[in-house]
Amino acid sequence: MIQEVISATKLIDFEGVSKTYQLGNQRIPALKGIDLTIESGDFIAIAGPSGSGKSTLLNLLALIDTPTSGDIRYNNIDVSTLSDDERTRYRNKEIGIVFQNYNLIPVLDALENVAFALQVQGVPTKECLKRAEKILREVGLGTHLHHRPANLSGGQKQRVAIARALVTNPSVVIADEPTAALDSKTGMEILELMKELNYTKNTTFIFSTHDNRIIDSVHHVVYIEDGFLMNRY
Ligand SMILES: Nc1ncnc2c1ncn2[C@@H]1O[C@H](COP(=O)(O)OP(=O)(O)OP(=O)(O)O)[C@@H](O)[C@H]1O
Ligand SMILES: [Mg+2]
Repeated sequence: MIQEVISATKLIDFEGVSKTYQLGNQRIPALKGIDLTIESGDFIAIAGPSGSGKSTLLNLLALIDTPTSGDIRYNNIDVSTLSDDERTRYRNKEIGIVFQNYNLIPVLDALENVAFALQVQGVPTKECLKRAEKILREVGLGTHLHHRPANLSGGQKQRVAIARALVTNPSVVIADEPTAALDSKTGMEILELMKELNYTKNTTFIFSTHDNRIIDSVHHVVYIEDGFLMNRY
């Protein structure tokens, strides 16, 4: 019998990562010495009280912001050695971002919003539309391709945003409170969709949440409090 051994590969590595904001002459330590390893295919909720540093951590994970000290490695690349341009290119290729308030373009329909993420990467228009349609069908929006954001529900808008994050085939999707603007039932549906996509595509998902039902229903939770990583289970 042939046995296949699937070994998890390290995707992201934080070592002693701190972030201090400077506000006028006030220093605000938002993250304090975070050590964190995330493996390819992980599905991780980041929890903790308001102001504990969740968004700060996600912005560092998404390469939107840079740490004050410590090392961040992506696929063993020390991201501090990348130029701004290289970091942006790396982010566009490897990271999909989902925002709490969707950030969809109002004048474009669902299909065009998703296709746009590929167009900016120089993919030919016909292929953009084909791939956008396929992923929108996968997130359950095959019947709403030509609805503009104003004509979609909150949950549907978040599905479009998830499709847009995924259409470029990133290795990781990072979402800051993707369910916060949704009612609890719709929030759970979005969670189930993310779980399914994690399972079928092996895309890594990292998202923050305040919702205890979501925290209770995922296997991996990273808990932060006052800028410290308190617990990981
Ligand atoms: N751009 C900024 N400039 C100065 N301080 C900031 C900035 N962004 C966040 N902070 C501070 O850093 C700390 C962590 O904030 P962060 O937004 O990461 O918390 P959070 O856990 O995401 O909170 P919430 O659950 O309310 O979204 C807080 O004390 C916050 O006031
Ligand atoms: Mg936040």
